[in-house]
Order: sequence, then structure tokens, then C-alpha cells
Amino acid sequence: MRKCPFDLWVYQEIICEVKPDLIVECGAGKGGSALFFAHMLDIIKKGKVISIDVQDFENMAMHKRIQRLKGSSVSSKTIEIVKSEIKGTDTVMVVLDSDHRQEHVEAELELYSDLVSVGSYLIVEDSHMNGHPVNKRFGKGPFEAIESFLLRSNKFVPDKNREKFMMTFNPLGYLKRVN
Ligand SMILES: C[S@@+](CC[C@H](N)C(=O)[O-])C[C@H]1O[C@@H](n2cnc3c(N)ncnc32)[C@H](O)[C@@H]1O
Repeated sequence: MRKCPFDLWVYQEIICEVKPDLIVECGAGKGGSALFFAHMLDIIKKGKVISIDVQDFENMAMHKRIQRLKGSSVSSKTIEIVKSEIKGTDTVMVVLDSDHRQEHVEAELELYSDLVSVGSYLIVEDSHMNGHPVNKRFGKGPFEAIESFLLRSNKFVPDKNREKFMMTFNPLGYLKRVN
């Protein structure tokens, strides 16, 4: 899993508070983060993870709560499948951790933000890149995508309380849906 332990601590608090029926993860990688989410859902005794990636890896982590979806996070087919898995009463949480270029993250924010339930979270990973404060030469990435998204949307606020450990890979990235 490619996450900061402080962020994992925050994730388990959010999952425990929000009690999602569905966590949609864009960018599965080798599957460690989806497995972590599945184990947190085991603890609250509900929910499943849809974990999306353009590629397969060998020895991917398996768990009965994880549904893998191969394809681009921004393809219409992927979105259609994800939407078909959501029931009207479901509490949905979304994690964006795929292609970190600004255009891609902005496209994901447009496509996935409406799926997030009021009171739940849309978490944009790795906004620390492009000098926020690491990897200064990355170019515009998740942080800039979030800034641009927040100018257009009044449905989400960055929950700075989730940055309480001071070190996070996701500055400005814990977006809480408020309406
Ligand atoms: C940072 S890794 C994911 C790490 C994983 N979430 C974890 O914490 O262990 C990014 C992943 O995004 C995938 N990816 C890149 N572009 C994508 C796209 N358009 N749609 C879905 N996944 C994509 C890559 O194949 C890669 O496995």
C-alpha cells in the first residue's frame, strides 16, 4: 500500500464515523489500500470496495468485500458500472488515487463527486505533489485540481481537521460533502 500511516489513521476514523456502504477507489495499484479499506469495513460489519485500475498486477490482495474493475476511472463504461452498483440509500465514499495529473483528477472530480453522499468524503490522494510540499517538478496535479474544483462546487469543503497530524499526503484533499 502506498499511503502515509497518519493518513491511514485518519481513514479508519472516517470509515468508522461515516460507515460507508460503498468505497469507490480509483487507482488500485497492487491492492493494499483496498484490502485496508475492506478490513476496516469488516470491523464495522458492512460495506464493500469497488477498486478500479487500468492494469492488473500479480498477486493482488483478495478479500470478499473487494470488487475489482479493470478500466480507466474516467471511461463512460466504468462510471456506468460503478453507478449500477449504488442503491439509493447507500452511503458512498470515494478515494481518487489514480493518474495524478491535474486534468485527470479534475475529470474524476466531475464524474465521481455526485456519487458521494452528504456527510461523507471525497478524498483526493497525493495533493502533496508539485511543491505542496514535495516533488516540486511534478507539474500541476491533485492540489491544483482540488483548488479548481472548489471554485466550481459549493457541495464540498476541505476538512482541515483531517490534517491534524500535520503530515499528510493529502493536503486540502479531505473533501467533506456538506450539501
Ligand atoms: C498511486 S497507484 C495506486 C496506489 C494504491 N491506491 C495504494 O494506495 O496502494 C496509481 C494507480 O493508478 C492506476 N491508474 C493510472 N491511470 C488510471 C486511470 N485512468 N484509471 C484507473 N487507474 C489508473 C495505475 O495503474 C496505478 O496502479
